Amino acid sequence: METEIRTVSEHIHDDVLDLLARSFGKDDDYFRRQHEGDPSYSHDRAWVLLEDGKIVSHVQIYDKVMRYGDGRIPFGGIADVGTDPEYRRRGHAAKLLSNAVGYMKRNDLPLSLLYTGTPPLYEAGGWHSVPATVLEADVPTEARPGPRAYTIKPFEESQLRLLASYWDQAMSNLVGPLDRSVEYFQKQPSWHVGWGDVQWDVIHRVGHPAGFVRTAIEGETLELLDVCGTSDEVVQVACAWAVRRAVESGCRKIEGRVSPGSILVRELAAFADIRLTTSDSQMMRLNDLEGVLRGALPEFHRRRRHNPLADQPVTLVVGNSAVRLEFPSGTVALGPPEHGDRMIELTDKQFLHMLMGLPGAQEPITESDLRPSIKSQLLNIFPQTGHVFWYADAF
Ligand SMILES: CC(C)(COP(=O)(O)OP(=O)(O)OC[C@H]1O[C@@H](n2cnc3c(N)ncnc32)[C@H](O)[C@@H]1OP(=O)(O)O)[C@@H](O)C(=O)NCCC(=O)NCCS
Repeated sequence: METEIRTVSEHIHDDVLDLLARSFGKDDDYFRRQHEGDPSYSHDRAWVLLEDGKIVSHVQIYDKVMRYGDGRIPFGGIADVGTDPEYRRRGHAAKLLSNAVGYMKRNDLPLSLLYTGTPPLYEAGGWHSVPATVLEADVPTEARPGPRAYTIKPFEESQLRLLASYWDQAMSNLVGPLDRSVEYFQKQPSWHVGWGDVQWDVIHRVGHPAGFVRTAIEGETLELLDVCGTSDEVVQVACAWAVRRAVESGCRKIEGRVSPGSILVRELAAFADIRLTTSDSQMMRLNDLEGVLRGALPEFHRRRRHNPLADQPVTLVVGNSAVRLEFPSGTVALGPPEHGDRMIELTDKQFLHMLMGLPGAQEPITESDLRPSIKSQLLNIFPQTGHVFWYADAF
């Protein structure tokens, strides 16, 4: 058996869509819409594996940017991993994933993110489960009214720039949401149509847009795709509206990815019985430690405002990589490790959990034998923030 890996080109794209449709049991338009609509898709970042000349497996990378508070971390979103049912368990997907890792390392994508129902495939390639918080709510029998003085209207194209700027503000303290360009916002509905009955509703206060909520109904579940408000009250209106839509559509369940402890969770609890669970389908890979820290640096600076005193440097060792974290007054600087530095050693998974602010992820710091003041510097730049990747950005 001869195998070969090739980049996707326009003339084989239809064959790729056909392969994906067969692999996932979905219609090929589902994939076509997202490839054509999402500006972070490119044939240059999609590969097929051919066995004896036949296209049998496919992997692609979306080139995206994650917001990290004030920081921005570029990442490779691994998607549409599919092998022809007759050619499975021959190592094809694993080979394409290893090729994708090489691409990400060469092209400044220091992090990778994916969603999967087959974690063992990715664990072998260096991805680790980074649990996401998922909100589930039982839909009440009656919708309670939200605050007065607001009206809800369908989204209009002319509101795009304004809503995108609200999004920027509303997400500015969070870890995880995508950095969405206006073009990306504009095109999202072109692939969201494949996700069920999707509605983009804009919340108006005294006639002016003040936020939005996007929901999708699939079967008896209302999925909260994303919520954006210019104030807590607008988020409250969005929650009341989503619950109303669920009640009126006969849904039994509301589901959404959320940042634990966010206003959204608090507000939604006022309108429905909610539970927070975790999903292990979200996985991340650390491709380049220094690249990740560089992206997060503006946020580290902001966090240092709580603890601005100068302190000794510490070398962060993660797997085979090491980066020196220096703590001059009020900032953080990165540098190469120096002989005699104090060190903290973490596995890739421990680091990823700490980076994404998971509960308990700071334990390796608190249990290390570092000096208390250095521990407190590290705890300050890696607090338990939680994170969220909205359903609206699923790939
Ligand atoms: C998942 C899928 C892409 C795997 O493709 P593949 O080419 O058969 O995968 P590989 O042969 O490279 O598998 C490498 C390893 O991953 C793991 N693996 C692969 N498929 C698996 C499965 N269905 N369940 C559990 N582990 C699996 C195994 O450890 C395997 O090694 P082994 O065969 O020596 O045990 C393929 O089954 C598929 O197209 N499924 C439907 C679409 C899908 O679910 N895609 C993944 C979405 S994230």
